[in-house]
Amino acid sequence: MIQCKDVSVTYPGSHTKALQTVNLTFQKGEFVCVLGKSGAGKSTFIRCLNGLQSPTEGDVIYHEQSLKKLSEAELRKIRQHTGMIFQQFNLIPRLSVMHNVLTGLFGSRSSFKNLAGLFTKEEKAAADAAIKSVGLSGFENRRVEQLSGGQKQRVGIARALVQQPTVLLGDEPVASLDPGTANQIFTLLRNMHDDLGLLTIINVHDLQLAKKYADRVIALKDGQVIFNGLPEMFGDREYDLTYGDK
Ligand SMILES: Nc1ncnc2c1ncn2[C@@H]1O[C@H](COP(=O)(O)OP(=O)(O)OP(=O)(O)O)[C@@H](O)[C@H]1O
Ligand SMILES: [Mg+2]
Repeated sequence: MIQCKDVSVTYPGSHTKALQTVNLTFQKGEFVCVLGKSGAGKSTFIRCLNGLQSPTEGDVIYHEQSLKKLSEAELRKIRQHTGMIFQQFNLIPRLSVMHNVLTGLFGSRSSFKNLAGLFTKEEKAAADAAIKSVGLSGFENRRVEQLSGGQKQRVGIARALVQQPTVLLGDEPVASLDPGTANQIFTLLRNMHDDLGLLTIINVHDLQLAKKYADRVIALKDGQVIFNGLPEMFGDREYDLTYGDK
């Protein structure tokens, strides 16, 4: 479903590779967590998967299409069905929960409709259903700036849901949340993943969360894949390799 073929990324002006010859394949139905210490290349990797970052070498094959051969319009189409959730939520604080969730539909609509804020009954019903499924019924008209971190991330997930994603990507979506809330968010993500039959790939700092929720764990170090396997196979040695200085 998504395949990375010899993907390397070198940022302009940098001498080191943020990603080095990454070869990985992801299938529909997999829930994958990507581990790695700060600077290991996790964000760079996740951004390559939906074309937000272009590899300097290699290619990403997404539903049998080579991302580097796609036009910007075709890439937008792919992103439309790829939900993305972020550590800092990337919401519009002064707008309501409903309005933020509706922005998830922007990729599929004309810019005139987006500017005018015109939404159909069906679109509003879809946003309502998404808000309900993340447990925020009753908060539809609340401004996002008046929510807790956990509630904000639920809005982020609802926004991804209205996109009717086939793929869900997360860049440390629980890194700013307390452990209890982080677990609740992961439970929500896992249930959503199972119900919708998604491919879910999430960067996470916390090994315990990865072990509890993922079908597969990938560890990055200095831009290279140093582990790719079952969570139970990720032991002390792998932990030291991933997080140690060597
Ligand atoms: N826009 C950029 N320009 C130049 N170098 C960058 C850029 N973004 C990231 N890097 C570098 O690429 C490497 C990988 O960064 P990346 O952000 O992917 O790591 P990360 O694993 O997501 O780290 P963190 O856990 O801190 O978010 C780092 O050495 C970083 O300094
Ligand atoms: Mg990062």
